[in-house]
Amino acid sequence: MAQRTTGVFRLLAAGWAYQAFQDALGARAFHRRVAAWLDVGPGQRVLDIGCGPAAILDHLPAGVEYHGFDDSAAYVAAARARHGSRGHFWQARVERTSLARLGRFDRVLALGVLHHLDDDGARALCDLAAAALDPDGMLLTYDPCWAAGQGVIARALIARDRGQDVRDAHGYAALARARFAAVDAEVVRGHLRVPYTAAVLRCRRPRAPAARGPVPW
Ligand SMILES: C[S@@+](CC[C@H](N)C(=O)[O-])C[C@H]1O[C@@H](n2cnc3c(N)ncnc32)[C@H](O)[C@@H]1O
Repeated sequence: MAQRTTGVFRLLAAGWAYQAFQDALGARAFHRRVAAWLDVGPGQRVLDIGCGPAAILDHLPAGVEYHGFDDSAAYVAAARARHGSRGHFWQARVERTSLARLGRFDRVLALGVLHHLDDDGARALCDLAAAALDPDGMLLTYDPCWAAGQGVIARALIARDRGQDVRDAHGYAALARARFAAVDAEVVRGHLRVPYTAAVLRCRRPRAPAARGPVPW
């Protein structure tokens, strides 16, 4: 289990409580920025891995085809209640799902998910995203990160995150580079109402999966 679920974190398991917490931190303004980075228009397809209550969908243009899945049944229910037929939502774990029947996507999004996953889980997410993406598509990830010169408040908040696999930007990028030929990592600060440091990855040019088993001579 790569995320904390006891004590105060139990409260965040409810979709409404998680969303209220995100809103208090200023996530709405940040989601507008994410939507601009995604740069999608009507007719394009977005897959949101670990979508939570799918708050990002409020900021995507009408006509975007949105698919989101999450391990949490409560968050998936909150996404359905909030957006109805505007998106497709289902419960699944990154490590145990196949998306082959869904076709290719223009963008894959994983906002705040990699730091909930150990290295095997993070590799599974990158495998899923690379396989689901159109060759010209982009995987965008966002996660809290360790960074030089980080303030004590940001460090303290990140140390108490539910996700237990926070890395530095290089650590996130190294995992993505196994499945993407072009990975751009950016450290962002000042995007929430509290001091916070996060890594944004823009991953392009998905690679074919590594061959399994012995290589024939
Ligand atoms: C910090 S929340 C982010 C939610 C949403 N992306 C957002 O930006 O509000 C992390 C999400 O990842 C989901 N998650 C964690 N581990 C997962 C896994 N193994 N498979 C699918 N979803 C997972 C959690 O249920 C949670 O909704």
